[in-house]
Amino acid sequence: MHPIAYYQELLANHFSTIATQKQPKNLYEPIAYILALGGKRMRPVLTLMATEVFNVDAKKAIPAATAVEVFHNFSLIHDDIMDDAPLRRGNQTVHEKWDLNTGILSGDAMLILAYQYFENYEPNIFQKLAKLFSKTALEVCEGQQYDVDFETRDDVTIPEYLKMIEYKTAVLVGAAMKMGAIVAETSEENANLIYDFGLNLGIAFQLQDDFLDAFGNPETFGKQVGGDIIENKKTYLYLKAMEFANEEDKQQLLHLFSIQPSDNTNKIESVKTIFDSSGASEATKAAIKDFTFKAFETLEKMDIDSEKKAILKAFGENLMGRNV
Ligand code: IPE
Ligand code: IPE
Ligand code: MG
Ligand code: MG
Ligand code: MG
Repeated sequence: MHPIAYYQELLANHFSTIATQKQPKNLYEPIAYILALGGKRMRPVLTLMATEVFNVDAKKAIPAATAVEVFHNFSLIHDDIMDDAPLRRGNQTVHEKWDLNTGILSGDAMLILAYQYFENYEPNIFQKLAKLFSKTALEVCEGQQYDVDFETRDDVTIPEYLKMIEYKTAVLVGAAMKMGAIVAETSEENANLIYDFGLNLGIAFQLQDDFLDAFGNPETFGKQVGGDIIENKKTYLYLKAMEFANEEDKQQLLHLFSIQPSDNTNKIESVKTIFDSSGASEATKAAIKDFTFKAFETLEKMDIDSEKKAILKAFGENLMGRNV
């Protein structure tokens, strides 16, 4: 197994070569655009790492890793439409730069493109990858639907929220790792354990995404800060604030999450003040740690060298320290 930077390096120029020069350009340019914007490349790196955890060369997992990242980028194009988001990775979102129809169709094409990468594998591995991918992709859709449904509900519970983020985000992180295990042709038990590691890391990751959406630095975050507040998203921050805040703040928060002002500056500031004063911000930070440690516990159950566990742990720790 190699240091994390090695896997990042393996993918460094890979995504800026996909879908360039293809016709019709109004279909393929947005695909090349979103892929070239970069991002952290967390999921494909995890796929490559998982393959080497089970002693097979990471290069064998490049097509699977590519499939996961292309699918992730597809989900971002459609997510930005659904969330009415203007910014992605510090640049205009696809539907803003082109239009809604372009975002829909280029996204659809990316979903199919993602599937095609599995054709690089022999039938036995292909079937396992495709099966896991289909299950995961459907769960992501279910999670995304819950996310939107929750915008107009004021009785969302923490368990409902956790299920929603497990589906919209964490299952893909788990699947990214399990695909690495499938490519390495390790045991079912190993594959499931590494899935659970990824799943818990993914839950921590989405909790932190929610935190950064409110408290990230607008100069560096790359997305519209306060976007979740504008859209009345029922994040962990919101749910904990509703649990902890005094009656007056609770009423205020309920009110703020029922209005859609044309200028959101005051709404965002007022909501963030309640997130902080209620203790919801601290509770969210604690939950990020809890789920990361839960992921580390799964790691302990795995029968792999301590050197490999240390690299996976370092990855989880780096994620906790991120600010984009
Ligand atoms: C954003 O994912 C969508 C979520 C599931 C929170 P990332 O934060 O991994 O986005 P990029 O790929 O690094 O831009
Ligand atoms: C996105 O969740 C999950 C998927 C893309 C499936 P968010 O809506 O929180 O992601 P960002 O914050 O826009 O990246
Ligand atoms: Mg979004
Ligand atoms: Mg969303
Ligand atoms: Mg978000």
